[in-house]
Amino acid sequence: MSYIQDKVVIITGASSGSGEATAKKLELVLAARREDRLKKLHQEIKNNGGRAIYKVTDVTSHEQMEELAAFALKEYGKIDVMVNNAGLMPLSPLYEKKSKEWDTMVDVNIKGVLLRTD
Ligand SMILES: NC(=O)c1ccc[n+]([C@@H]2O[C@H](COP(=O)([O-])OP(=O)(O)OC[C@H]3O[C@@H](n4cnc5c(N)ncnc54)[C@H](OP(=O)(O)O)[C@@H]3O)[C@@H](O)[C@H]2O)c1
Repeated sequence: MSYIQDKVVIITGASSGSGEATAKKLELVLAARREDRLKKLHQEIKNNGGRAIYKVTDVTSHEQMEELAAFALKEYGKIDVMVNNAGLMPLSPLYEKKSKEWDTMVDVNIKGVLLRTD
């Protein structure tokens, strides 16, 4: 992982799953909605000698994504890598027509990536 040494990395969806696993390997700005999990992971990384900060962020909110970028820039002065990992994959047969779930998936998995921090 030396190629990524000293890089500042924002990772969305950092509170669990693949985001959490990635977070444990890097120097990071952690972002997700569940603050209790972010706090715990942040402490865990610090306890293991890592460097991380966190900010509660909903990737479907343009405003919160802008604030996330501003926070990272204020704390570290740069953003090298953006890991748009936040996502969900609810499964159900099409005939159940869970259109609310489809809307959420589009908002998080697609718009959440488009609203990345430029
Ligand atoms: N696990 C697999 O085998 C697999 C395979 C292929 C693809 N994927 C994809 O990889 C991604 C991560 O999967 P995972 O298994 O690691 O899922 P996970 O454990 O459910 O983690 C999803 C992460 O996304 C965050 N998230 C969800 N909605 C969000 C929102 N609106 N704003 C900010 N963060 C949000 C969640 O945090 P909060 O709830 O705290 O916000 C959580 O940290 C998903 O897109 C999934 O579809 C997973």
